[in-house]
Amino acid sequence: MFMKSVLRITVSAAVLALGGGMASAGNVEVLHWWTSGGEAAALNVLKDDLASKGVEWQDMPVAGGGGEAAMTALRARVTAGNAPTAVQMLGFDIRDWAAEGALANLDDVATSEGWDAVVPDALKAFSKYDGHWVAAPVNVHSTNWVWINKKALDAAGGKAPTNWDELIAVLDAMKANGITPLAHGGQAWQDATIFDAVVLSMGNDFYKASMIDLDENALGGDTMVEVFNRMAKLRSYVDDNFSGRDWNLASAMVINGEAGMQMMGDWAKGEFLRADQVPGKDFVCIRFPGTQGSVTFNSDQFAMFKVNDPEAQKAQKLMASAVMSPVFQSAFNVVKGSVPARTDVPNDAFDDCGKKGMADLAEANANGSLFGSMAHGHAVPASIKNAMYDVVTAHFNGEYDAKEAAAELVAAVADAK
Ligand code: GAL
Repeated sequence: MFMKSVLRITVSAAVLALGGGMASAGNVEVLHWWTSGGEAAALNVLKDDLASKGVEWQDMPVAGGGGEAAMTALRARVTAGNAPTAVQMLGFDIRDWAAEGALANLDDVATSEGWDAVVPDALKAFSKYDGHWVAAPVNVHSTNWVWINKKALDAAGGKAPTNWDELIAVLDAMKANGITPLAHGGQAWQDATIFDAVVLSMGNDFYKASMIDLDENALGGDTMVEVFNRMAKLRSYVDDNFSGRDWNLASAMVINGEAGMQMMGDWAKGEFLRADQVPGKDFVCIRFPGTQGSVTFNSDQFAMFKVNDPEAQKAQKLMASAVMSPVFQSAFNVVKGSVPARTDVPNDAFDDCGKKGMADLAEANANGSLFGSMAHGHAVPASIKNAMYDVVTAHFNGEYDAKEAAAELVAAVADAK
């Protein structure tokens, strides 16, 4: 069923380039979930880059924010003995596939290009398995952002909130002004993205204890009960039609002024830029109130599956090398909303939110306040992540009160371990 719904298009840019007389440098079939306007614009930067190197691109998009549907489609392809050559992948999923022995070794290109010296350890924890490179990181996203319509903020007092009480005051003012205060899509990964930020706002130690170390006292204690109380409070600011809405449609509500703000990773910025909006003028980017100085990150990486055809292997290496080029990392991430995965890329081409993203990341990395995002596969393996999703979403939809939710979280994590 998935296979039927999957679109496969051979990209014309590569064909045109080849038609122009360039020898083919092989073909890569790329499975990804970058289908929104901003994501597709960023992907085009990559397609064009590869086309200029003679690499043909076979597109395998699987829509669905956060990549759950893409991972299901991937499993089906591998089970059928027909793995795509390159796959967009997050954190623990890369480790899981590497552990299965499914990923190609990229050590020779990584060594000749000196990746070790420029990729931060937090990313290498996922790009490398057993000391060998198995994926090329294309970016660093972070999830603890809020995207605010500037006009709506001005009408609500003009001051960006820096703590919970100020946030609630702004949301109340937006409600009084007759707009939807919080643009949100009721999908498990989106609920979990807000949850990540609320947990982080309770402190670095609490985030680490609950989301990474899975400490039962943190998962089920009073602070977690307060997290769920806050989630319920935030739920009271979404509109009636939030259920199932895609994240980019929620971004559009903020862009067109129908809603005041969205709590979402910085891929949302790609949507604002696509709509010709300018940071500081049309929209404002802030860290989720109470989390300035800390970052929950996720990194999109391209993992290469083992293939036998030497031509395909060559194309995989060309793609890995292209993804890691500093010029490409700047061009791509400026459009995507993320920041480079390399530490040596200048920030000149980035807008104010991008510059802030880069500075925040460096600061958090230096201070020990950089953590993998639970919602986006960088804190715990998918089995535990999915168990947390279920509880967070059931609570968001009113199935549990805050106390029950905290108790359910402890039980769900214990079962999934
Ligand atoms: C994230 C991914 C981003 C963006 C987002 C929404 O998991 O890292 O690149 O695609 O999902 O689809």
